[in-house]
Parts: sequence; structure tokens; C-alpha cells
Amino acid sequence: MNYPDIPILNQRFGAPGRIAFRTGEAGLPIISLVNAYGTCELSLYGGQVLSYRPTGHVPVLFTSKAAVYEPGKPIRGGIPICWPWFGPSSDKAQPLHGFARLMQWGLQATEYSSDVTEVRLALSDSELTRHFWPYAFDLTLRVWLDQRLNLALTTVNRDKRPFTLTQAFHPYFRVRQITDTTVRGLDQALYTDLLTGQTGVQQGALNIRSETDRVYLPTSPECVLQDTGIGRAIAVAFTGTRRLVVWNPWIDKAHAMPDFGDDEYQRMLCIEPANTAEDAVMLEPGARHTLSVALQASLT
Ligand code: BG6
Repeated sequence: MNYPDIPILNQRFGAPGRIAFRTGEAGLPIISLVNAYGTCELSLYGGQVLSYRPTGHVPVLFTSKAAVYEPGKPIRGGIPICWPWFGPSSDKAQPLHGFARLMQWGLQATEYSSDVTEVRLALSDSELTRHFWPYAFDLTLRVWLDQRLNLALTTVNRDKRPFTLTQAFHPYFRVRQITDTTVRGLDQALYTDLLTGQTGVQQGALNIRSETDRVYLPTSPECVLQDTGIGRAIAVAFTGTRRLVVWNPWIDKAHAMPDFGDDEYQRMLCIEPANTAEDAVMLEPGARHTLSVALQASLT
């Protein structure tokens, strides 16, 4: 894969003390956003946030020690983007969770003010993407850092035909110990358990004590990850979908994943604002849709 030149990126898009580019693992170009509220790093490969650290906090996001940084493979951690499908493709023959997390994204713009540091990445259809999905599109990812870490993913249909997509932000939250962690804000939410196909209604806070893979329909567009081990709450607010997926692979699946440590299931939880099949987005030619998520950490 050809990567853009780091000194040129710094010259064109960098800003001293606020926006910088460097070469990361396996030569991947990494962008750092900095301001008084914290720091965040993203990879152009995958258009993927890799880390987020609000000022005065330990890191919010988890990245596996066994993660691979190889073109064609997804990076296990941070905030992968699942697009233009979430889960398996309809014919089951294409990459799980789509191809956006496997692509080199372009850099559109950077911006900063006293309170906000922002980068905009873009991905459009190419011969390569049309091999996976036969439509013309423009996809833009805005990532901006203020008191929160904010991401907005906008899809524009540039094709002559309508298309339907499913998608997700797939944040891996870092927790000190999964058994000291609860998710609040899902009480009374309907869910489908993807492991059993059963549906249910959440009673009270969600505690993770076994493999978990559920699609929730929360009653409000926000939930809170409470980590008593760290003494921290992370509010996850989202727009553009009504559904949240909660995932932890637990012991057996952790063993089966080559890019995930055997005991790392204890230190992470994924809470994913997702347009799953029930919330799929149909776009007419020229139409657009934005999925967004904002993360805010507070000490408890
Ligand atoms: C979750 C899915 O969103 O992502 C799980 O609900 C899946 O079923 C998990 O296993 C991880 O997917 P991947 O492709 O990143 O290993």
C-alpha cells in the first residue's frame, strides 16, 4: 500500500501543538488531535480512531496487544467503522462488517479553534470498493475533540440507483475489570440476543458475566458505561440510529481470535451505535445520512 508522505501531511494539514502526523505501527500514517480537553489518535487506514485520552484520565479506548496492522485486515481496537454492512454480507462471501475498515482513507481537511480540534477523512468508490459493493458513494468521517470525542459518519449516494446500508461505530472501551463494569440506560430496552436468536427486555443495569452479543433498542439515545474499577463513567450518546450493539467475546471466543489476547475480554467492552438490519438506511440517489457518536468521560 502507498502511504502519503508524513512531512507533506504535516506541512499541509498540521498545526503546532494541535494536529500532527506520524508514522505508526507497520508504517501506517497516524494523526494526533490535541487540545486542552485531551488527545486522540486516528489511523488513515480504516479511518479508525485508535486512542482517546481526556485530560486527567487514563485511556478510554482499548486496543488489543495482539492487534495486527496489516493492509486487508481490521485493527482490533479503538473505533472501527463497519460500513456499508454490519455483520456478515448478504451473500456471506465478503468481509465481516464491510470494507471501510480495510481501506486507506483520504485526508480532506483539518481545523482548530481555541476549543475544538477537528479532522475530516473521506472515502469514495473506486475500482477496489466496487469489487465489494457496486455503488458510487462519498463517505466522510468528521472527528472532533472538545469536552467530548465526537464522530460523525456521513454517507452520500452518488449512484443512479438507490442503495441500502447497515453500519456501526464499533468502539472498544477499555475497562479495568469487566466484572466491575455495568451499562446503565438500557433498563426496559428490548433486545435480540445474537447468540441465541431470543428476544428479551433488559431489567435494570446490564452486567457482563458471559459471552454477550446483543442488539438493544434503548428508550433514549444515550447509555453510560460505569467502571467502578477505574472510578469512571463514560457517556455514549448517538444519533442516526435507534440501536446499540453490546459485545464481549468472553473466554472461548477470545481464545479463538488470533488478534486478541486470551484474557483481554476482561479489559474491554464494545458498545456500538449501529444501523443493524432493523434500522437499515435506504438512500435515494443524491440523498445522505449521518450516524454520530459522542463520548464523554467523567470521574465518579
Ligand atoms: C460485533 C458483532 O459487533 O462485532 C459480533 O455483534 C462480532 O458478532 C464482533 O463477533 C467482532 O467482529 P470482528 O469482525 O471485528 O471480529
